[in-house]
Amino acid sequence: APGELRELLLSKIADVPDYPKPGVMFKDITPLLADPAAFGALTDALAGLCEQHGADKVVGLEARGFILAAPVAVRAGLGFVPVRKAGKLPGTTLGQSYELEYGSAEIEMHADALSPGERVLVIDDVLATGGTADASLQLIRRAGAEVAGVAVLMELGFLAGRRRLEPGLKGAPLEAL
Ligand code: PRP
Repeated sequence: APGELRELLLSKIADVPDYPKPGVMFKDITPLLADPAAFGALTDALAGLCEQHGADKVVGLEARGFILAAPVAVRAGLGFVPVRKAGKLPGTTLGQSYELEYGSAEIEMHADALSPGERVLVIDDVLATGGTADASLQLIRRAGAEVAGVAVLMELGFLAGRRRLEPGLKGAPLEAL
């Protein structure tokens, strides 16, 4: 049941106060990754979302998004595509910069990683301000592919990432487990 999955996942996410800086409560997913029952249940649930939303490919967002998305892609029988921080991919890339609280960041994807019309599910561990996920949606659309949805383990509601992401979703679902 969804409520049971939620409780299992919550029980395996550790709150680390004042990391990486004072006043920030870090959500540590390493206990979840170390527990095969919990990691397996999360992988199954995310693979189920791939099927539910008709995904043809899975995009993972560096770095913790890779850990969650790769087994989902295998489980769902779909290809995995990494969206990386700028400067890490060897081929021709599409880049997208986005605003942070102070300054900006840039992510990249191989330009030929997606085919026109393909439906893509984006997977990450945390939706915080939504900047990273929103930039990934722009990359997917610029590659000519379609957004099947965004799925995250956790949504930090107080940071209003859902609101920032809404225009870029264009009606596609945002699922937070
Ligand atoms: C974290 C997290 C998401 C992103 C969410 O990644 O894993 O990718 O930030 O933040 P946002 O919604 O405000 O964009 P981080 O940049 O810390 O990288 P990492 O996964 O490589 O540690």
